[in-house]
Amino acid sequence: MNEIDPWASSSVEDYEKLMRDFGIQPMGDYQGRYSDLRYIRRGIIFGQRDLGRIDEAVQKKKRFALMTGLMPSGKFHFGHKMVADEIIWFQQKGADIFSCSADIESYVVRGISFEDARKTAIEEYLANYIALGLDPERLSFWFQSDYRTEYYRLRDMLSKKVTFNELKAIYGDDLTTGKIISALTQAADILHPQLAEFGGPRPLVVPVGADQDPHIRLTRDLAQRFSEEFKFIPPSATYHKFMSGLQGGKMSSSNPQSYIALTDEPKDAGRKIMRAKTGGRATVEEQKKLGGIPEQCMIYELYLYHLVDDDRELKEIYGKCKAGTLLCGEDKKHCAQLMEKFLSEHQKKRDSALKDARRIAERKR
Ligand code: TRP
Repeated sequence: MNEIDPWASSSVEDYEKLMRDFGIQPMGDYQGRYSDLRYIRRGIIFGQRDLGRIDEAVQKKKRFALMTGLMPSGKFHFGHKMVADEIIWFQQKGADIFSCSADIESYVVRGISFEDARKTAIEEYLANYIALGLDPERLSFWFQSDYRTEYYRLRDMLSKKVTFNELKAIYGDDLTTGKIISALTQAADILHPQLAEFGGPRPLVVPVGADQDPHIRLTRDLAQRFSEEFKFIPPSATYHKFMSGLQGGKMSSSNPQSYIALTDEPKDAGRKIMRAKTGGRATVEEQKKLGGIPEQCMIYELYLYHLVDDDRELKEIYGKCKAGTLLCGEDKKHCAQLMEKFLSEHQKKRDSALKDARRIAERKR
């Protein structure tokens, strides 16, 4: 069994294996029931733990919460947009939203200053969340470095019920003091909404990429170990796949050519799309004969995740590509147009969302 390292930059290749090894459950019936979220409908959100608790709360209109943490480094790109859309969707289903900037983690593990982290959290993340549709009035937002006593007390208490060897088994041998602090802080992020001071025990879901599963497993164990003291309900989770980089391979914050940021100039974004890797053949003749390979095409991936919400329209593009009647040049132009339109509309909203983002970051917590 391979361990997953949430601090490594490797991507998770084999989702099936991951599910088998770590007990992540498939979406099953929820894929149909919650098909109104594109990422669920299309299998991009591929797994879950205890989603039944959340499902029940939604169906019976009982209280539940969502907790999410952002890493305040780099630009807010289309990989992050996927999570933001999921958060907003859960908010519209009735979740109390808890969101933190992981600035302790970014300081101790990545060496990012608190000042830079603060700016990134507000201008990149919060402003884009709000522009995408998050209701800032129904959001509890905090910085890991600047929050309430009960939260820090919980984090420190958690250390009592996890051994050093256990942490090494979960996170690997190059465990550092900073990683231990980050892991316990993240567990406190996820569990503290269930403290009496923050609304009390209730189902809570954490939307994550598969790389965060070690944290989820640790936190679920801790929830159980403190269940008598705090009546914690083990947190639920959803797991999403990662988008590829525009050139194929990994999407990486350190390589701007690999992603489109939501603050990219629309024209620049269009140019990135024109340079992206496609599933095209070596020559036009060959492509007309054999058809393209949408499964290997970054343009198709952009449609699938973000730009084409209508399943019929997506299927039509897929069919034309496979049949060799839609060629890459034309397809890229179409994609660039959709992207430029999305970005210019979004960026207008982001400008006015900035004010709300700043206000929320200053709000008393
Ligand atoms: N570790 C997460 C990351 O690298 C950030 C994070 C901090 C987080 N606390 C969290 C994510 C709680 C989910 C839930 O992106």
